[in-house]
Amino acid sequence: MIPVEARLAQIAPSILTADFGHLAQQIRDADAGGADLWHLDVMDGHFVPPLSFGKEVIAAVRAASPRFLEAHLMVARPGEQFAHMAHAGAQRLVFHYEAAGSAEAARDLARQAHDLGCEAGIAINPETPIEALYPLLDTLDEVLVMLIRPGWGGQQADLDLLSKVRALSARLAAEGIAMPINIDGGVKAHNARACAEAGATILVAGSAVFNADQTPADALAELHDALAR
Ligand code: DX5
Ligand code: ZN
Repeated sequence: MIPVEARLAQIAPSILTADFGHLAQQIRDADAGGADLWHLDVMDGHFVPPLSFGKEVIAAVRAASPRFLEAHLMVARPGEQFAHMAHAGAQRLVFHYEAAGSAEAARDLARQAHDLGCEAGIAINPETPIEALYPLLDTLDEVLVMLIRPGWGGQQADLDLLSKVRALSARLAAEGIAMPINIDGGVKAHNARACAEAGATILVAGSAVFNADQTPADALAELHDALAR
C-alpha cells in the first residue's frame, strides 16, 4: 500500500455502489485496503431524483471505521440535516451551492456547520461557474467539484470540467488559502492522475472501489499506483 505522503491525492470511497447486505465488511475491507477518508452520499429525492440513505448508514460507517468522514448532502434543504449528520459522526458537512441559492445563504450554512463542530464543504454542479465560490473561500474548509450530474454512481467523468479545478487551485494559491479540492464522479485508475495534476487533492471513487470484479483493496491499490509521486 502506497502511503498518502507518497501519492498526489487522497482517495475517498463513496459507498453508493457498495453491497449494502455486507456493508460493514465492505467498509472494513476498504479501510484496511487504503481508503483515506469516507465520502457518504445523502440524497433526498428532491435536489436529485434518487433517495439514498441518511443518518443510520452514516452511523454504521462511523462504527466500522475510524477514518475521517464527510457527508455529501445532495438535498434541497441541507441545514435541516446538519445536526443529524453531525450526531451520526460526520466530520465535514458538504452542501451544494445550488441548494443554498446565494452566497449569503451559503455563508450562513458554513457557519451552522462550524457551530456544530464540523468542517464546512461546498459542492458545485457542472453548470455552475467556479467563480461563484470565490467570495466564499475564506469561510470554507473544502470545495467539491462535480465531474458528473449528481444523483447516480457509475457515470463517466467530464474531464473538461478539470478546468474549474485548475482555476480554483490558482485562485487559492493567489489568496494564500490552503484547503482540499475534492472531485466527485467517474474517477477511475485511468484518469486519477490527470485529476490530481489539475489540482484535486481528494478524489471520490465509488464504482471504481466497490464493484463486482475486484475487491475494494485491489481497486484501491490500482488507484494508489496511478497516483504515485
Ligand atoms: C453521485 C455522487 C458520487 C458518486 C461517485 O451523485 O455524488 O459520490 O456516487 O460514484 P462514481 O465514482 O461511481 O462516479
Ligand atoms: Zn458524492
